[in-house]
Amino acid sequence: MNKQKFLFNFYYLLVSILGGLIFIYSLLKVNLDFLYLYPLWIVLFVAFEMRPVSLDVKGQVTLGFALNLAILMIYGTWSSIIVTGIGSSMADIIGKRGWQKVIFNSSQYSISLLIAGMVYSKLSPVTEEIFSISQHIIPFVFTAIAFVVINFLLVAVIVSLSFEIALLDVIKMDLGMMVLFLTSLAPLSLLLVILYTSEPFSVILIVPPLALAHKGFENYLKLRKQTRATIEHLADIVDRRDKYTSMHSTRVAVYAERIAKEMGLSYEQVENVSMAGKVHDLGKIGVRDSILLKPKALIDSEVEEMKKHTEIGYYMLQPLEMYKDVLAYVLFHHERMDGKGYPRGLKYNSIPLGARILAVADSFDAMTSDRLYRKAMSEEQAMKELMNNKGTQFDPQVVEAFIKSWKKEKKHRER
Ligand SMILES: [Fe+2]
Repeated sequence: MNKQKFLFNFYYLLVSILGGLIFIYSLLKVNLDFLYLYPLWIVLFVAFEMRPVSLDVKGQVTLGFALNLAILMIYGTWSSIIVTGIGSSMADIIGKRGWQKVIFNSSQYSISLLIAGMVYSKLSPVTEEIFSISQHIIPFVFTAIAFVVINFLLVAVIVSLSFEIALLDVIKMDLGMMVLFLTSLAPLSLLLVILYTSEPFSVILIVPPLALAHKGFENYLKLRKQTRATIEHLADIVDRRDKYTSMHSTRVAVYAERIAKEMGLSYEQVENVSMAGKVHDLGKIGVRDSILLKPKALIDSEVEEMKKHTEIGYYMLQPLEMYKDVLAYVLFHHERMDGKGYPRGLKYNSIPLGARILAVADSFDAMTSDRLYRKAMSEEQAMKELMNNKGTQFDPQVVEAFIKSWKKEKKHRER
């Protein structure tokens, strides 16, 4: 068993045992006065947990959070653990997410709620009232923060261990979205408590606005995914115009990703070079067939037109916010270290690292693929070419990283 697998199993067991013990203890301490209302909360919780919203990395968030804190304030920590544990398990079982998830999710909720409950009971005054803004708002804020932080960390660690992504990268990538989502839901928790204190069944009134918020959030993320898929599909169609370059961008993205990983770049940077690789030649959409598919060497004016694909690609992607960090990679993927590249003739480190990575990945794929006017080189020959041109055309560090990643990949293929 490798170290990663061992750590995953150890962490999973630890959270599950802790969560399980907390759940069993909560069964003994649960507030039975309002037992008849628990099914209502469970049904609401299951409904929201059934439709999680996926974040950029592998994490997910659900609207169930708004209910967790409300239940905690109304019935106390133990009841919130029971309702949430049952609700989350039911949602995972109905959604056929596997036993591993059923156990981990309910366990991490139990731990987060126990700590949040400890914060709330420590900070809130002992009163007859369930909730009054003046007395409970500050304890509520700290409780919500404690719940979010613990919940987020417990999930981030399992994501980091199971997908082998550095923990800091998981936190950095999903934190913004998570904070936005949760800070907008915390006030809804308060609203639920206020509604409950006037009439318990009136909490149902919160369902339509919550469902609407969920739909809006889900649509926003769906739109982002669909936009990206459309652009990548378009880039693929451009590659297919020339049968010799079919799947070129997909392969460039794979090579670029391997280089970035070999160089130890962050998850976000690896994702970015891969994203840029898939669309780096999108601008060829603006190059005429007579040039793009010409079986002979291009004349000077045709070369100039061909070169424009970097700028066309840049202008096409510029309006899309999701590509803002990779625009420069697309624009400068034909720059050279010695300044003899295009479109700007940038030198050395003034060329963004992502563009230097794409240049190597792009050239390797071009050399190892057949073209109308020449046969493909062997991978070994292409490696020699990269080595011969490092320092002049290519970034030496990028070439070294590529060679290392290529050797690893070759070994893997031969196994
Ligand atoms: Fe290109």
